[in-house]
Amino acid sequence: MAAFQAPRGTQDILPEDQPYWRHLRERIVHLCSLYGYEPIDTPTFEDTALFARSIGEGTDIVEKEMYTFEDKGGNSLTLRPEMTASVVRAYLEHGMHTLIRPVKVYSFGSIFRYDRPQAGRYREFHQFNLEAIGEADPGVDVEIIQVAWHLLSSLGFRGIELQLNSIGCPQCHPSYVERLVEYYGQHHEALCGDCQRRLERNPLRLLDCKNPRCQPLIEDAPRSSSYLDDSCQEHFDAVRHGLEMLEVPHALNHRLVRGLDYYTRTVFEMWAEGIGAQSAVCGGGRYDGLAEELGGKPTPGIGFALGMERTILAMRKQGLVAPSPLRPPVFLATLGPEARDAGLKLAHALRKEGIGVRSSFGRRGLKAQLRQANKFGASYALIMGDAELQVNKVVVRALARGEQEEVPMAEVASWLRQRLN
Ligand code: HAM
Repeated sequence: MAAFQAPRGTQDILPEDQPYWRHLRERIVHLCSLYGYEPIDTPTFEDTALFARSIGEGTDIVEKEMYTFEDKGGNSLTLRPEMTASVVRAYLEHGMHTLIRPVKVYSFGSIFRYDRPQAGRYREFHQFNLEAIGEADPGVDVEIIQVAWHLLSSLGFRGIELQLNSIGCPQCHPSYVERLVEYYGQHHEALCGDCQRRLERNPLRLLDCKNPRCQPLIEDAPRSSSYLDDSCQEHFDAVRHGLEMLEVPHALNHRLVRGLDYYTRTVFEMWAEGIGAQSAVCGGGRYDGLAEELGGKPTPGIGFALGMERTILAMRKQGLVAPSPLRPPVFLATLGPEARDAGLKLAHALRKEGIGVRSSFGRRGLKAQLRQANKFGASYALIMGDAELQVNKVVVRALARGEQEEVPMAEVASWLRQRLN
């Protein structure tokens, strides 16, 4: 066993995994450009208070999962456990309210949560995060959900479920929470230990409990969607109407409350079939109070994040393949020191012409080099030995057919270009 292993809950993304990552990123970037979202990047760490204030002191993320450290200047910093807080911070810091609203941005990046690792749940993972800030219209909710839906269906997923709920706004939400606490207070004895604590600190999370003991109580618990005030109800109806118009099927899920405190009104998740307990490949919702919480003017916003590892896991489980890796189509085999030198020059000339070449560096026999070329999956091998050098030619071998011919050195690039195109 190697002396060191990657830390628990982290993973190496090996070259063999990269085609999935590239495929997913390319699809995302393409879709973002179709919908008019632009990239934004924010720091990997931020002031701890930013996350505590936005995600909420009583949440699992802030209480138990943050990688917080003091830097040498005595500042408390935290590796980002999500991106929304950072994006809204950047929006306020750079006065982005003057741009066309909603400001539509997306990011890719690592996220850090000290969670219990298992398949689909890691301590360092990656999100694609998308936000639309500065517009309260339900049409934005519909568009955001549509991006997620469009992405997953265009990747070829089967059995995607859109779970939808509305948790109301600061006007109607408190009376719902009051009702929930009252209901659970009457059943205190029947609750699991975790839920007894949740009742004190974060009652909404009672609805999220996985303990079989709490399930019947959850089923009968008051539902947030029954406590919406008129404007939240109207908003929710408009979101559902928009989704129906676009033929995006959704399931109302009154248990869906999400683990971050900033949400208001619409919340949603997309679940993928066949990846077990950690089935939410993406999740998000509205956060109309977040900018104000961070010291800005009231600014509505909505977004979602998709777990890259979880999505790739689900793609693999559903047998969705990624295109083959981008590899140079040409493999250069040389025999002897002079041919090796000439090979260096030829490879350089071909790359300048835009033709990818992988060199064997010519330390092995011809047979071994050709075996490497086949294993590598090259289309053509260029073979150069002293005999070819003397007549200024190269042997070009089409690897799949096993046919070969001599081509003058000066014509190799155009010969290859014709066939590779
Ligand atoms: P979240 O639901 O905490 O939301 O995370 C979004 C997605 O990240 C999840 O659906 C899942 O695919 C992935 N994910 C979460 N935790 C892990 C983990 N430990 N290991 C692997 N993947 C994980 C947010 O982060 C919100 N900021 C989303 C958002 C954006 N809301 C509004 N805008």
